[in-house]
Amino acid sequence: MCENILTTVTGTRDLLPDEMAGWHVIEDKARSIFSLYGFQEIRTPVFEATELFARGIGGDTDIVGKEMYTFLDQGGKSLSLRPEATASVVRAFIQHSMHRDAGLTRLYYIGPMFRHEKKQKGRWRQFYQIGAEALGSESVAVEFEILEMLLHFLARLEVQSQLMLNSVGCPACRPPFVKKLQEELRSAGNSLCEDCRRRTDLNPLRVLDCKIPECQATIERMPSITDHLCAECAAHFRRLLGYLDHAAISYSVVPRLVRGLDYYVRTAFEIVSGGLGAQNALVGGGRYDGLSEVLGGPRAPGFGFALGVDRLAMILPDHVGREAAYSPDLFLAYIGDAALSKALGIARALRSAGWKCHMEYTGGSLKSQMRLANRLNARHVLIIGDAELERKRYLLKRMADSRQWELEDGEIAAVLSAGANP
Ligand code: HAM
Repeated sequence: MCENILTTVTGTRDLLPDEMAGWHVIEDKARSIFSLYGFQEIRTPVFEATELFARGIGGDTDIVGKEMYTFLDQGGKSLSLRPEATASVVRAFIQHSMHRDAGLTRLYYIGPMFRHEKKQKGRWRQFYQIGAEALGSESVAVEFEILEMLLHFLARLEVQSQLMLNSVGCPACRPPFVKKLQEELRSAGNSLCEDCRRRTDLNPLRVLDCKIPECQATIERMPSITDHLCAECAAHFRRLLGYLDHAAISYSVVPRLVRGLDYYVRTAFEIVSGGLGAQNALVGGGRYDGLSEVLGGPRAPGFGFALGVDRLAMILPDHVGREAAYSPDLFLAYIGDAALSKALGIARALRSAGWKCHMEYTGGSLKSQMRLANRLNARHVLIIGDAELERKRYLLKRMADSRQWELEDGEIAAVLSAGANP
């Protein structure tokens, strides 16, 4: 059968220029706000050894078991498109011996991730994350600082969000809890969906996260990890809540919040937002103190998050998204070859001074060029025709109030400056 080569593959899409404006606002704000907290960018490859994700995220998780795009390269090595970037960042941290650098290693990333999930609103097979990871400290203050940074970022974008937190315990208190949970889930047997029955054996904590309505009554009756934390984990969690209370940051403790990746210990969190529909998780994150060692590296306690950019873009208020929309400072409308040559010269000089200049080369009439200037929301239009060429003075029109000037080349920039800086 002949595949349709003119359509994107299911679960992927083109991000067109209109949509990209909002994405630029998101990415620019992330870079500027994260740098206030000392985070620096890292870029890791989009594919890595499959084993990195299997060991890091956990072989029994849905992400590794069902959702990875895995392939063999020419040498027979199993590679996978990254389903997330935490394992990759920790791999890079170990590979480049970043633990030798003084202080906490604070890294952020922006890029595509790949998961073969069932397509639905807000869920893509190629999606984008902005994430941040801090490696090298067990301190609750690191958790607080990152949560504060994240909420600062979302507030700047005027996105409403709700922080949900839990503690998933540590290697000391979680195994006895998981055993108890597993026993109770087994005795609940047929009241659970097929996936939950499978997870009861493989990864019982994940049952708590099941969204299927028929499972909810049983899940409600299950013990919660929050009531089974060891003294250290309980104190750690209380300290974090204390920091948040002190800063008047609102949150809810959700004892059934368990995350779909195995590396978490102690604090796990999600940020959800209304308006997203069923896939309402905007951010997921938590602490992963043992991940570096699981991958064969030194001890390097970590804490971080990843935010779904596709989802954030869906709920970005229009006026915020428009901040980066393309609109030229000057549209140069011309008639005839001599005028075109003059317009090119004026545009060159103005662009090198930092002004956004727009010209069309489709041979349209003055009227059609004016229509286009309007559609592009150009701030000014410069009209260059035979008469203007002869007088060496050009007609500049400010679109907002239709005010007009007759100017020489060298006077144009000053009028553009009256409204905004280049
Ligand atoms: P995650 O919860 O799997 O965590 O993903 C984080 C966010 O990525 C989600 O809250 C969601 O916004 C977005 N996301 C995930 N899957 C999709 C999808 N198929 N389509 C659209 N958006 C999606 C992680 O990835 C961890 N690495 C987070 C982390 C960093 N934990 C510690 N450090």
